[in-house]
Amino acid sequence: MDDRVLPVGAYESLPAWTYNDSDFFNAEMDAVVRPSWQLVCHENDIPNVGDYTALDILNERIIAVRGKDGVVRTFHNVCRHRGSRLLEGSQGECPGRIRCPYHAWTWNLEGSLINVPYERDFENFDRGDHGLAPVQMELFLGFIWVRLDSSTSVPTVAEQFAPYLDEIKPYRFEDMRPLGRITLRPRAVNWKQIADNYVDALHIPTAHPGLSGLVGNTYGMEVKGDIHKMWGDVMETRKDSWSTRAYKKHLPKVSHLPEDKQRHWVYYRFWPNVAFDIYPDQIDFMQFIPVSKNETLIREIAYVLPDERREMKAARYLNWRINREVNAEDTAIINRVQDGMASSSFTYGPLAKTEVCLLDSARRIREAVPAACHRRKPAAP
Ligand code: FES
Ligand SMILES: [Fe+2]
Repeated sequence: MDDRVLPVGAYESLPAWTYNDSDFFNAEMDAVVRPSWQLVCHENDIPNVGDYTALDILNERIIAVRGKDGVVRTFHNVCRHRGSRLLEGSQGECPGRIRCPYHAWTWNLEGSLINVPYERDFENFDRGDHGLAPVQMELFLGFIWVRLDSSTSVPTVAEQFAPYLDEIKPYRFEDMRPLGRITLRPRAVNWKQIADNYVDALHIPTAHPGLSGLVGNTYGMEVKGDIHKMWGDVMETRKDSWSTRAYKKHLPKVSHLPEDKQRHWVYYRFWPNVAFDIYPDQIDFMQFIPVSKNETLIREIAYVLPDERREMKAARYLNWRINREVNAEDTAIINRVQDGMASSSFTYGPLAKTEVCLLDSARRIREAVPAACHRRKPAAP
């Protein structure tokens, strides 16, 4: 029974082996993650000429750099001479040019090669052949997106967000400023474990008493195209922790949002591994960076609109505190599940028809990597 081939739209979870298998991980990266849009940062993370942000994902090293002309470009952060990494760290500024630390080949901020020591010793050398390798890029509401593999065509980020554009617009994504810097939090689980858990609505009353106190039973979720959406309203309930009570108390009105969004939380998961968490006081993006079959980095940063009010500062701090509590609860859960899925007793679990996001995730993975239709790992061909 366990080795039957499932239809892609089966009402059951992906089989457990797909969360802990290197061959499957590689196939999934090629079919699902590499062709998809990945978020590098916001334009306002790199406001000045020479500012850059790096995105390291799978074997790719990517940078978004602001050129002398004020335009943001994305390149592979790799020297065209011997392949050395060029710019260090996850964010920084380079002084008008990009110089390789190995043999000092140098490019301008627009990616043209401008200096090569001992240039005459290279035969038939043309600088024009060795510009920084560009990466396919899209700017969407201030956010900079790239594709690691652009050999196939996929809808643009704007096309994928189209069903929700009207409801996103009032939040003024383009005007947002970073609150701090991008952080990377390692997790010893498969990337799907984290992505699944964020769209698993049925766990909230049990696993997150604080969050449950914040939004009560106002949860909703739906799938439109490539977006999974979840939402809730900040409610007056009695089972509050100190942070949620204080957040509700301090969160002031914001002039850019309509009345029904003043106490509204919404989460958009952009297939496959990027998500926006949106509150009246701030937004953040989270990206689940797959590292190996059982290692993932959560790459994350919050953005805000300028607002110097004391109660807004308090609300932002409390929001961060609540999130930290929820994150600790979720980390414990995903570790338990990654562990349990390795047991020989567990091959798959049923999914409720209401779990539309989890069902859609499983269907998409089965479609992209047909081996996922097997409850046990199929023998290699
Ligand atoms: S590897 Fe970069 S200059 Fe040689
Ligand atoms: Fe959770």
